[in-house]
Amino acid sequence: MQKKIAVLLGGTSAERDVSLVTGVEFAKVLHQKRYHVEAIDCAFGTKLINFLEFHRDKKISIIPPRFNTNKMNMNRNVLKTVNYLIKKKFDLIFIALHGGYGENGQLQALLDLCGIPYTGSGQLASGLGMNKHLSKTIFQEAGIPTPPWVHLTNPDQEINQIIKLLGLPLVVKPNDQGSTIGLSIVNQSNDLLKAIHLAFQHSKSVIVEKYIEGQEITASILDFIPLPLIEIIPQSGLYDYEHKYQPGKSQYIVPAPLPAKLTRQIQDYALMAFKTLDCRHYGRVDFRLSPDKKPFCLEINTLPGMTPTSLVPKAAHGIGLDFSELILKIFDLALA
Ligand SMILES: Nc1ncnc2c1ncn2[C@@H]1O[C@H](COP(=O)(O)OP(=O)(O)OP(=O)(O)O)[C@@H](O)[C@H]1O
Ligand SMILES: [Mg+2]
Repeated sequence: MQKKIAVLLGGTSAERDVSLVTGVEFAKVLHQKRYHVEAIDCAFGTKLINFLEFHRDKKISIIPPRFNTNKMNMNRNVLKTVNYLIKKKFDLIFIALHGGYGENGQLQALLDLCGIPYTGSGQLASGLGMNKHLSKTIFQEAGIPTPPWVHLTNPDQEINQIIKLLGLPLVVKPNDQGSTIGLSIVNQSNDLLKAIHLAFQHSKSVIVEKYIEGQEITASILDFIPLPLIEIIPQSGLYDYEHKYQPGKSQYIVPAPLPAKLTRQIQDYALMAFKTLDCRHYGRVDFRLSPDKKPFCLEINTLPGMTPTSLVPKAAHGIGLDFSELILKIFDLALA
């Protein structure tokens, strides 16, 4: 019998626009393979997206979206989505959400309770992966180097103590956001408090991290196998929302031009991070590589962007998997 697949996309997080692109691409591939596919925008409960028409009018805009309406009420619409999934008896759920309840384990917990299989990591790994402070604590415990940091649970801070501990420059980021949203690089002590307040607008807690000068390297994992590393060179400045999603704003080198031993070391750390957090199917681990060639793990992404131009598909291409083969591989892993 023809398999019924639901692709969950959109949602209410700041990464909603990216998710719509990821989800539409998933849906198109599965549709081409003649599965029954429905693409459902969880922000609106059971709203179906016409993924075959979608490309004509949708591009990721230069800044992330923000819901003006009551977000808590909109979040509850995901319960309508899950009820619909139960009623329609889907065989598999492809989670194409980024950020928020789709990536932080809440949706995964609901699907587990309902006995519905889905792609990507389970609820615990997702929850840990989304929480930078907790994942860094676990990385450190496992011997995976990560930049020194402090975790703040309120914005009123004695900034001199933080600077004394970590020095300057610093990176301030929301504890559970993605896509560089709410993140600042702080070069002068005067700017630190403002950066902390900005990050608190996006999260209930914030981390302040030592800035690591050097190269931007990302390591993708597929079914416990590290894919070729990618070096990312933003056209200018920070690898921020604009440099992530606007075509031509960053240069990508696959495989990253690093010595074999260093490549292996970063891949090993990435796989350790993936396994230590109990991730599954696929994921991406972000690193900074200092000028003296020491890798520092920044974070793990349990639902990384998956548009055809995203990093994981680029890395998969490096081992000869094209975009649809990658999606079908994830499909098989989730059904196994
Ligand atoms: N400690 C650091 N030193 C130097 N640059 C950093 C540091 N932390 C973050 N950055 C820069 O900011 C970017 C985003 O940081 P990070 O990956 O931690 O957050 P994110 O917003 O969750 O990203 P993603 O889009 O991958 O989910 C990094 O790719 C890097 O360019
Ligand atoms: Mg990152």
